[in-house]
Amino acid sequence: MTTASNKLHSLNSFPRIRMRRNRMKNFSRRLVSENTISTDDLIYPIFITFGNNKKEPIESMPGIHRFSLDLLKDEIEYISSLDIPAIAFFPMIQQSLKSSDGKEAFNKNNLICEAIKISKSINKNLGVICDVALDPYTDHGHDGIIINDEIDNDQTLKILCKQALVQAEAGCDIIAPSDMMDGRVGIIRDALDNAGYNDVQIMSYGAKYASAFYGPFRDAIGSLGNLSTKGKQSYQMDPSNSDEALKEIALDLSEGADMVIIKPGMPYLDIIYRVKQEFKIPVYAYQVSGEYSMIMGAIKNGWFDEKKIIMESIMAFKRAGCNGIITYFAPFIAQQLKESKK
Ligand code: PBG
Repeated sequence: MTTASNKLHSLNSFPRIRMRRNRMKNFSRRLVSENTISTDDLIYPIFITFGNNKKEPIESMPGIHRFSLDLLKDEIEYISSLDIPAIAFFPMIQQSLKSSDGKEAFNKNNLICEAIKISKSINKNLGVICDVALDPYTDHGHDGIIINDEIDNDQTLKILCKQALVQAEAGCDIIAPSDMMDGRVGIIRDALDNAGYNDVQIMSYGAKYASAFYGPFRDAIGSLGNLSTKGKQSYQMDPSNSDEALKEIALDLSEGADMVIIKPGMPYLDIIYRVKQEFKIPVYAYQVSGEYSMIMGAIKNGWFDEKKIIMESIMAFKRAGCNGIITYFAPFIAQQLKESKK
């Protein structure tokens, strides 16, 4: 080849590889897309409150409400109509029922147990997930009980088992320990099995960080005020750690966890990715209250396009390896997906 034709050749073929070709047309973008969001990915958290005829807006979470049990029916029907596979209940109980040992947690007629029964009576196929942790029930707002000024691991475990059992008895499908006590998954698994609840699943909050992103949630369940003296750092993980998350997850799996949650979500995508790569198990992100409120706040100010920002935030979890996402945006997303099929 002559020098001249060489030159022409390299000019004509520059750049030889054009990444934009696959992106040029809509059909092609559809063909090359690596991840998709489906309604099957969604878990919706629902806040329950005491009393009657209440649908209370949660100030720090625009668009999210606490429902009294009598108004729960409509919400369950709405979620069912969107074909969302599962919900997660969180209670706000009366201050007068809160105690230092959180014993309302294992009252078999407590708010959560009643909510489970209502949900199951309306749609038994809607999966019900319930937290196991004492913070909605303790007067000090901690997930465990305090002995000698410390959260006592082993005494807390006994109460958590009782809490898991009343929830299973009420019909809960998935027990989600979110307390971060050591050994809780194993002891809850044993308690469930011994009581004949072999098929109740455990979705552990395997790696749960001591995060400021939970602020609005604590407002939602009314556990915020009491925590000022002591944070949750003695049981929830240090945001600076990542190897430790792998060990936490390995332990939960060895103790019998069927699925694991990483929480918060978006600030911890690296943890989600590492956990999925390492263990190849069902992994869920909890896009927590603070993430919701940040996104919602910016949408409300007109700084973000609502649909685009929500979908992008959820896609990030899919890309990182999540099988599903616990998100306050679940009904919005399900609605969008339904409309895009029309
Ligand atoms: C309770 C619990 C918390 C959340 C879920 N379960 C709060 C906490 O640990 O303080 C947070 C959920 C959210 O912020 O949306 N252990």
